[in-house]
Amino acid sequence: MPLPRNKTVDDITADVLERFAATPQPRLKEIMLSLIGHLHAFVKDVDLTEAEWFQAIEILTRAGHLSGDKRQEFILFSDTLGVSMVVDLLNHRKPDGATESTVFGPFHRQGAPQMPWGGNIAHLDREGPPALVGGRVLDLDGRPIEGALLDVWQAQTSGLYDSQDSNLDEMHMRGKFRTDAGGRYLVRTVLPVHYPIPSDGPVGAMLRATGRHPWRPAHIHFVVSADGYEPVTTHIFDRADEYLGSDAVFAVKDSLICDFTRHEAPDAEVLQLGIAGPYYTTEFEFHLKPAAEDRPDVLDAQRRLAALTARD
Ligand code: BEZ
Ligand code: FE
Repeated sequence: MPLPRNKTVDDITADVLERFAATPQPRLKEIMLSLIGHLHAFVKDVDLTEAEWFQAIEILTRAGHLSGDKRQEFILFSDTLGVSMVVDLLNHRKPDGATESTVFGPFHRQGAPQMPWGGNIAHLDREGPPALVGGRVLDLDGRPIEGALLDVWQAQTSGLYDSQDSNLDEMHMRGKFRTDAGGRYLVRTVLPVHYPIPSDGPVGAMLRATGRHPWRPAHIHFVVSADGYEPVTTHIFDRADEYLGSDAVFAVKDSLICDFTRHEAPDAEVLQLGIAGPYYTTEFEFHLKPAAEDRPDVLDAQRRLAALTARD
């Protein structure tokens, strides 16, 4: 008979792994075994104290209390720890030429209004200089895609999204645009600004405690979709922004950086859009890859994320 002995921490890990070994669903089994292995290794590696363990419980509890229909502190943790971008890269390995994706973020809302050609998503923003964002949606061979849908959202010049702004009870800086027969789209907005991610909760506390700043470089969000193509969730970024190299959520990709060019006076076409003074323009071409039969989960994941944060 084996002699009784004190259990070591490695015995506990082995016990726990064994308890999950009969998990019937292979993928769940793979995930649970790996999670337990890494979690136990982490706790042993840092020699976690009981006080630190309790602090972690408090942080997760506060994140849960803060999360709901207007805010998702867990997504913010995932974003600021770089996990969202790792998941993004693992899930969206684009062939050469397809537009790269980036984080979805917590501020998408379902039900943005349909907009006409050149429609103004920033009609209540009196501070920011007007900006025209235009270009085409193309397939991987450079053929225009007619009727592609661009779901666009952006922070106001105040740095707040409409859902964060207590002065607003309507949607603002959001719209859905369709491409014309040439695959072209045109969005009127204001020049995007950099803004801090919400930092009054545990994510903010983590950033401060670790000497990190909360700023995201100026950007505009897009989900571009069309029948027969894989939708892309992405942003375009302003090349002039000072936070391009230190985005709080690690979401910048070279191929998504654009030049916003300043113009001192409108030409006739721009006058027709109601722009009277100085304004900015930028162009961006979206390239969509054909939908893969085996990837019906792509848009589903976006819808589920949107539903988590949807206010309407
Ligand atoms: C955003 O760009 O809206 C965003 C993305 C990730 C975290 C917070 C905000
Ligand atoms: Fe944003």
